[in-house]
Amino acid sequence: MLKQLTLKNVGPAPFMELHFSDRLNLLTGDNGLGKTFLLDAAWWALTRSWPAEVNTKLSSGMMAKPHGEKWERAVIEFSFATNSGPVQGEFHFDHKHQDWNGKYCVPFSGLVFYALANGSMALWDPNRTSLHRPNMVWNGWDPHHRPPAYVFNSEEIWNGLHDSSGKRLCNGLLADWAGWQKEHGATIKALANILSTLAPSADEGMTIGDLSRISLTDVRDIPTLKMPYGQEVPVLYASSAIRRILSLCYLLVWAWQEHSHACKLLGEPMAKRFVFLIDEIEAHLHPKWQRSIIRSLLHMANEVAVLFPGVQVQFIITTHTPLVLASMEPFFDAVQDKWFDIDLLADKDGTFLVQLSEQPFIRRGDASNWLTSKAFDLQSGCSLEAEEALAEASALLSRESVTIAEARGMEEKLRMVLGDTDPFWVRWRFILEKKGLLS
Ligand SMILES: Nc1ncnc2c1ncn2[C@@H]1O[C@H](COP(=O)(O)OP(=O)(O)OP(=O)(O)O)[C@@H](O)[C@H]1O
Ligand SMILES: [Mg+2]
Repeated sequence: MLKQLTLKNVGPAPFMELHFSDRLNLLTGDNGLGKTFLLDAAWWALTRSWPAEVNTKLSSGMMAKPHGEKWERAVIEFSFATNSGPVQGEFHFDHKHQDWNGKYCVPFSGLVFYALANGSMALWDPNRTSLHRPNMVWNGWDPHHRPPAYVFNSEEIWNGLHDSSGKRLCNGLLADWAGWQKEHGATIKALANILSTLAPSADEGMTIGDLSRISLTDVRDIPTLKMPYGQEVPVLYASSAIRRILSLCYLLVWAWQEHSHACKLLGEPMAKRFVFLIDEIEAHLHPKWQRSIIRSLLHMANEVAVLFPGVQVQFIITTHTPLVLASMEPFFDAVQDKWFDIDLLADKDGTFLVQLSEQPFIRRGDASNWLTSKAFDLQSGCSLEAEEALAEASALLSRESVTIAEARGMEEKLRMVLGDTDPFWVRWRFILEKKGLLS
């Protein structure tokens, strides 16, 4: 499992350090403060490739590059646990070669899944991928020319992946799913089980339907999903949310199948460690699903343990939504879970600094309390207009003398922005009455 990641003089902050927990790690922070950047760096630490270098069609997942003169002091340090013990790496930016240079250290001995925010997916499998960095001190030679990782853009995960020489690396979800379904074997059962763990509720299960054709001119058998409204919908028509979930489930099952084959060929045991990096876990999800997705992922981890006996699963997840944090309250376990937050802090001299810190996870009861917590730093969960009117009304109430006209004017403003049952009305009426201003 990834234990530690330290970035010095690269990225939005001069220094970021994370000591990860073994199960669930959640990252919050404003837009542009480095959540995705940290996931890219975590992926690199484990696999030593940048997603956009492996697949140049990707528009994110680029190599971390230090800004300006900072390259001289730019460092990426990491440590992770592998089958053969702990591994530590220290890499410095080599300006001349425009790459990270360090003493060779083995990559991660487990599987790594990276779900990028734009629907791209990346997979590291220690038995099927290999380190390929040209300027790395690397004494090995890989006769099979294994790819540095399997990196799919959102289209390739559905239709198949080729390497730069045109060799087919993966058939893609549509072809593989249809093939597995025709075999009626363990693979389609595994896919069905994993899909069912990720459904938002029992009555909205993600159940596999029959294969179907969608056009006279398209000879493919297209997998379908049974919808709660009774139709079997071809996955090509699935919503953005479902497509992302399907892609992740497919990649997981495909990885299991191919990893099992590779282990048999190589005479090696199956991987015992999994790391899932998931950017913007809430992407496209309805609040109902946002509220269940972390719990579902933990159930999915149990299903992964059926496929990979004895496996340990670690999640590193970014989110923008308070529902995800609120939903974790019942099962957040400080021994195996952590929450990190990135903030923009004003320095003494008025300049701003990006700072990452681990936060204590305190139960807050509901999502609106999370909105006003350190995770999201909002004043309230209401509209900006209501927030401004409430501040103005509070200031008015705390004044010694207020005229009836002022009170009426303010009340009119409040009516425009507050609901009839807003708790502020009680305070408003009580103080106006005390001041003799209630008409
Ligand atoms: N490849 C890179 N090399 C150096 N710095 C980078 C790189 N990629 C991102 N950054 C830094 O990270 C910042 C953007 O961070 P990132 O995209 O990770 O934000 P985020 O927290 O994921 O935002 P959002 O919530 O909008 O997704 C950039 O402004 C830049 O400072
Ligand atoms: Mg991001």
